[in-house]
Amino acid sequence: MCGIVGYVGRSDALEFLLRGLRRLEYRGYDSAGVAVIDAHGHLRVVKAAGRIEGLEERLRADPISGCIGIGHTRWATHGPATDVNAHPHIGGNGLVAVVHNGVIDNYLPLRARLEAEGYRFRSATDTEVIAHLVDSSLRRHGLVREADHREAAGEALVTGLDLAKADYAPLVRAVQEALVQLQGTYGLAMVLPAWPEVLIACRLGSPLIVGVSEGEHFVASDASPFAGYADRIVYLADHEMALMTADSLRVVHRDQGRIAHQVQVLDLPPDAVDRGGFPHFMLKEIFEQPESLRNAMRGRLDRDAATARFGGLNLSAQQLASVRRLVMTACGTSWHAGLVGEYQIETLARLPVEVEYASELRYRNPPLEPGTLLFAITQSGETADTLAALREMKRKGHPTLAICNVVGSTIAQEADGGIYLHAGPEVGVASTKAFTSQCLVLALLALYFGRLHHLSFDAGMRIIEQIEELPDKVRQALETNDLVRQIALRYCEANNFLYLGRQFNYPTALEGALKLKEISYIHAEGYPAAEMKHGPIALVDAHTPSVFLMPQGPVYDKVLANVQEIKARGGPVIAVACQGDRQVRQLADEVVEIPAVADFLQPIVSIIPLQLLAYHIAVARGCDVDKPRNLAKSVTVE
Ligand code: G6P
Repeated sequence: MCGIVGYVGRSDALEFLLRGLRRLEYRGYDSAGVAVIDAHGHLRVVKAAGRIEGLEERLRADPISGCIGIGHTRWATHGPATDVNAHPHIGGNGLVAVVHNGVIDNYLPLRARLEAEGYRFRSATDTEVIAHLVDSSLRRHGLVREADHREAAGEALVTGLDLAKADYAPLVRAVQEALVQLQGTYGLAMVLPAWPEVLIACRLGSPLIVGVSEGEHFVASDASPFAGYADRIVYLADHEMALMTADSLRVVHRDQGRIAHQVQVLDLPPDAVDRGGFPHFMLKEIFEQPESLRNAMRGRLDRDAATARFGGLNLSAQQLASVRRLVMTACGTSWHAGLVGEYQIETLARLPVEVEYASELRYRNPPLEPGTLLFAITQSGETADTLAALREMKRKGHPTLAICNVVGSTIAQEADGGIYLHAGPEVGVASTKAFTSQCLVLALLALYFGRLHHLSFDAGMRIIEQIEELPDKVRQALETNDLVRQIALRYCEANNFLYLGRQFNYPTALEGALKLKEISYIHAEGYPAAEMKHGPIALVDAHTPSVFLMPQGPVYDKVLANVQEIKARGGPVIAVACQGDRQVRQLADEVVEIPAVADFLQPIVSIIPLQLLAYHIAVARGCDVDKPRNLAKSVTVE
């Protein structure tokens, strides 16, 4: 969802702001804007509904420059995607420009009060109340006089002012006084023309990271804009405010005053967030899967003990051995990975697993006994519902672990421990490599818990060998790309698709249907193959393709019977089956062959042609694959 960038240093702020906003495009947005303080100390704001190209066009027509500024991509919540509603928003007297991620729950009463004070609202957003509140607080603290004075004295823009020498305490107090009135969540960046050397960033429940480099500081809502700009980062925690000049950084906590901040090394090469020669991030990420899977298993297979090992679970062997039940919670694709995990862990480890939508779990109050361990599965580590469900479970005293891709994200930090995917940045809104890495990490957990209980050493070793072969099997599955593209061209006009699979491949069917829906806007339903007789079969006709997942295994014959049922009603069938399957060739209209793997790993291989099918159909229909309409990569509102 919304993205924030900010810059203070000696270079032209706009260069980083626009590059950074482009790198945040993947989060999903529908308008964009920037605010820069120019060399004369004037605040210049340019905004545009629609894509960043529109903003750039306006900036070409009305160029602005300065060494300090903020930028934003907005995903509309309060008010439609218009120029006026785009961020930054300006406080009534022009004392501050603000960009905001999150939602202010009490914005209506605040708005009424500010209107009574004489503030005139231009937008329908909740964010504008923040700008006016800060403005009003600066006035109340008598800081406006200082602003006027500095402007009157014609002070040149001061870069490199040392925060240690300047007294920003009154400014901090005024901003904090405004912030304490807000209920809800915010990641905020602001610039103030009266303090043209200071960039301010504040966080409550919506992530913000400070980037540190020689003679410049950056802020962004995730680390991707920093690649090639900053090599060190500081994660802000809730209630913290960062004050940055070109050369200094100070972090102030609402209750504790100034606090020491921890600078961490950022290991993000500049090309990590580039398309690397692929036409879309999604295709690049699909093809990265052999490597991302290798990264997910690296160092985690313990041949001496025939088990998996994890560095960051932070639970003792005794605590883990006493786990009686796992609850997995997630949203979207990550929820599908959780379903795969349920099959894997119940089969290999014989531990009961329950998978809950995070948006349901956070408000449901299921009876959970001691011995329940919660896994929050999330690519971004920022999904609002998943975070809320995790907090709810922590509150009830259950240990919580995160399976997460983004290092240092809120969920990764708040969980008691966790497992990183190490899949690298995932930019395509439709999740691909994160899904397969999540399924693999869950398979490793199944092995781990299995070995804690009944799995023999030999069985553990066999599983390790099967897991080690996986990246090469996925590489082979990617060789179906050309064939899948041809199939996509034949069926891209269809308005409905069914995706059908059983057992381990039931979640794969759900995920395949979701991929198609997300990026091609075709209605698609995933179903357990046999269940289609209880409704979806009514949809079957010559224009409704059914995609069957039917690798060899215990339910193969049953799925074959389901294929017969669809064919008997004139529905086209696209089958994803094992190499050399002759039977299915006699029945299906199209067959995509994938290599055979153990059943608990099948979803990781069989999802590959489904990712490719969705991709090629979306391209054939002219859809914006990496930025599908209405969707956001990271859903940070409830
Ligand atoms: C959004 C994204 C999906 C993702 C879901 C959960 O809906 O578009 O691709 O699966 O959020 O995100 P998470 O980061 O928690 O895995």
